[in-house]
This record gives sequence, C-alpha cells and structure tokens, in this order.
Amino acid sequence: MSIEIPEGLTELLQSFTVEVLRNQPGDLLDFALQYFIQLKENQRGSAFDNARDSANGRHGDNVSSGRLVNFAEETMQIYLENEEDDDEEEFVAPVINRFLRRSSVCAEAFNPDEEEEDKDSRITHPKTDEQRHRLQEACKDILLFKNLDPEQMSQVLDAMFEMSVEAGEHIIDQDDDGDNFYVIERGTFDILMKADRVERVVGSYDNQGSFGELALMYNTPRAATIIATSVGALWCMDRLTFRRIIVKNNHKKRKMYEAFIESLPLLTSLQVSERMCVVDVLSSKAYTDGEQIIAQGATANCFYIVESGQVRITMNTSKLKKEEGEGVEEEVEIAMCTRGQYFGELALVTNKPRAASAYAVGNVKCLVMDVQAFERLLGPCMDIMKRNVVSYDEQLAALFGSNTGIHDNDTA
Ligand code: CMP
Ligand code: CMP
Repeated sequence: MSIEIPEGLTELLQSFTVEVLRNQPGDLLDFALQYFIQLKENQRGSAFDNARDSANGRHGDNVSSGRLVNFAEETMQIYLENEEDDDEEEFVAPVINRFLRRSSVCAEAFNPDEEEEDKDSRITHPKTDEQRHRLQEACKDILLFKNLDPEQMSQVLDAMFEMSVEAGEHIIDQDDDGDNFYVIERGTFDILMKADRVERVVGSYDNQGSFGELALMYNTPRAATIIATSVGALWCMDRLTFRRIIVKNNHKKRKMYEAFIESLPLLTSLQVSERMCVVDVLSSKAYTDGEQIIAQGATANCFYIVESGQVRITMNTSKLKKEEGEGVEEEVEIAMCTRGQYFGELALVTNKPRAASAYAVGNVKCLVMDVQAFERLLGPCMDIMKRNVVSYDEQLAALFGSNTGIHDNDTA
C-alpha cells in the first residue's frame, strides 16, 4: 500500500524543525502550539506586504507574515535588508516575530557572522570632551563592553547618546519592542515584572549598571519594566549598533566559551540554550598576582567563575566566633578556587555583604556576571550553590575547631 504524503507536509515540518533548532525551546509542546497557531494566523492575515513596505523604509507597527513560510527566516531577511538600507535614521525593527515573543529569551535570532558590515550605516552622535569623559566613566565597568576590541569600543562610544530622566519616568515597559540599550551614568531605577497580571519590583539599579540588552540580543519583547526612582542620566545605544557590535561579539564569545561552560558542574541544571545565555552575559576579567577581586564586608554586585589561575579566599578572623581572648585578628586563607570553580555567590544569594575576601594568585582570569544576570539565569543552579554553602561552614569548623555558625541563616 502506498501512502500519499500530503502536499506541503515536508515543508511544514522542515520549517518547524528549523524553528525548534533555532530557538531551543524549553517546552517543545508549548512552542509547537505557539508556532502552529501563529502559522494559522499568518495564513489568514495579509499583512506580509506591510512588512516589506516597512523593510523598504516605510516603517510601521509590528506586522505578521501572510504566507506559510519559514517565518523567522523572513524576519531575518527583512531585518538584514533594513540594516543595509538604513543610514543614520532611527532604526525601527520591521518585524518582531510574534511566536518568538513567547519563546525563551535565550534564542539567538540570527547568525551575526553572516551580517555584512556596512560602514555607512555607522551611527555617530558628536560629543564634547566633557561628555565623552563622563560616558567613558559610565561605561568602564559595563560587562557587555569588556570583550570589545578598541575599534569596537570606539564605535560604541561614538554611537551613544545622552538622556536625562525624571523620577517616575518609564524607561522601558515590559512587552514593548526593544529600541535602545541603556547604561546608567547616575540615578536609581526599579526593575518590575508582571506575573499573573501582578507587577512586582524584582530588583533595582543604584547609580551603576546597564539594562535593555535582552530584547535587542534575542529579538524578543522587553522582559521587564524599568522605572526611574530618582532624577538620573542615561547613555543610550540604538538597536542597530547594539546588534552590529555586541551581538556579533557574543557570537564569538559563544564559540570561545562553549566547551568550558558545558564542562561546569554548577551549570548542569541549565538547558544548553540557557547555558549559552550565560555566556552572552559573562565577561572575562584579568587580575595580576595579589590583586584583590573581592573585599570582605563590601557590597556585592558580581559573581565569578575562575577561567584560569588560582583565587585565594581569605577571611578576617574577627568575624569568626571565638572564645574570649583567643587569637588575634588576622586574615586567614579558607579556600583556594581553581579553573571551573566559582565564588562570590554567597552575598548575592543572601543579600549580605561579602563574607570573605578573594585575591588573585599569579595571573588570573575570571568570567564575571552581574547580579541581575545571576538572579535571572542561575535560579536552577541554586540547589548546588546551597549545598556548597553548607560545606563552607564545615570548612570553617575544620579550620577553626568548632562550628563557627557564620553561615547558620544563609540561604535558609
Ligand atoms: P530587556 O528585556 O531588553 O528590557 C528590560 C530589561 O530589564 C532587560 O532587558 C534586562 O536588561 C533588565 N532586567 C533586569 N533584571 C531582569 C530580570 N530578572 N528579568 C528580565 N530582565 C531583567
Ligand atoms: P561572597 O560572600 O559573595 O564573597 C566571598 C566568597 O568567598 C563567598 O561569596 C564564597 O563564594 C567564597 N567562600 C569560599 N569559602 C567560603 C567560606 N567558608 N565562607 C564564606 N565564603 C566562602
């Protein structure tokens, strides 16, 4: 008996498979549901022409394709055409793939290696020396910029423009399309997220850091709302420059760190695509022999993974429970971290100051992640971290003879 393959089935399944591979969804069934609902909607709609118009310079609202085709492929094609066409005009994303809206923010929308560098499309906002100095100061600790070469960094600085904000101003609204990436020069900002229609503050920025990278990196809607809670100043980078430089750089980073990240026991609870998102937000920092990486008692804003070399963890003994009159205050080595091990998680998990200090032994390289990315991406790794915190106390007890109780309430 011969079985007839319905017309279009092969193409349909091929397109779907490509999207699955491209997006690496956590929940395949949910993704399939979204995908086919979207295809059906696309069949009904006739808005595809609008997208083409938009790509040819007549920017419009988000539109959906009217054809049963590889939707993301179309989106990308239009995006690339648009990038080639646009000069210094503000970039408006021609199409945001609506089924991608629900997918993991870990998807990478296109391969930046394939992107043609169009020198004419470089965006420059002239600046005074004073402005450039302030901008450099604001950008010096931005992790996403750490791996850029000097030419890329100079293009980034050229492209950024200044924005003043008032208390209460919404800089980003969750679910909107992404326009800019923001670096904080000064001011405080709340991060809010909606869950079951209830909006909650999930974090904040205090006069440093950056936000707004996710929608631009992964072609997804804004994942959170950012509201200024004081008067402030921001430096903004347009979407086009961000994708041309940062996303392209991330692609290189993924290739460079993929094997190392895959080998880390801490990240085993993450899916492959989630581990790649971790790579996207990591930056490599170098330290010389004896350099302090973390200071005990300081406020914490980063998490570290040792890439090469050794890191000595020390604790000031005045922090340890001691019998009266016992010992003098000194800095004691309590652990040594080598390649693949992590440190600096405790203060981020407990919301307390740093429990110990960390110093480079010889030349050291660490992969560094900021607290917002740590909270967003490493939730599934918390069990492993908590187990480690228990071992910290045992470690201290072994060194100092009794249970110090120093971590008794940590990660409870
Ligand atoms: P984006 O999604 O472009 O816009 C909202 C920004 O909020 C997001 O990028 C991140 O830069 C920032 N943000 C901070 N904390 C979180 C979080 N927990 N989840 C998602 N986004 C966050
Ligand atoms: P954090 O407190 O953020 O900064 C210092 C880091 O030292 C701490 O996180 C741990 O990652 C690491 N560390 C290693 N051993 C210990 C220990 N016994 N007690 C506390 N911190 C430790």
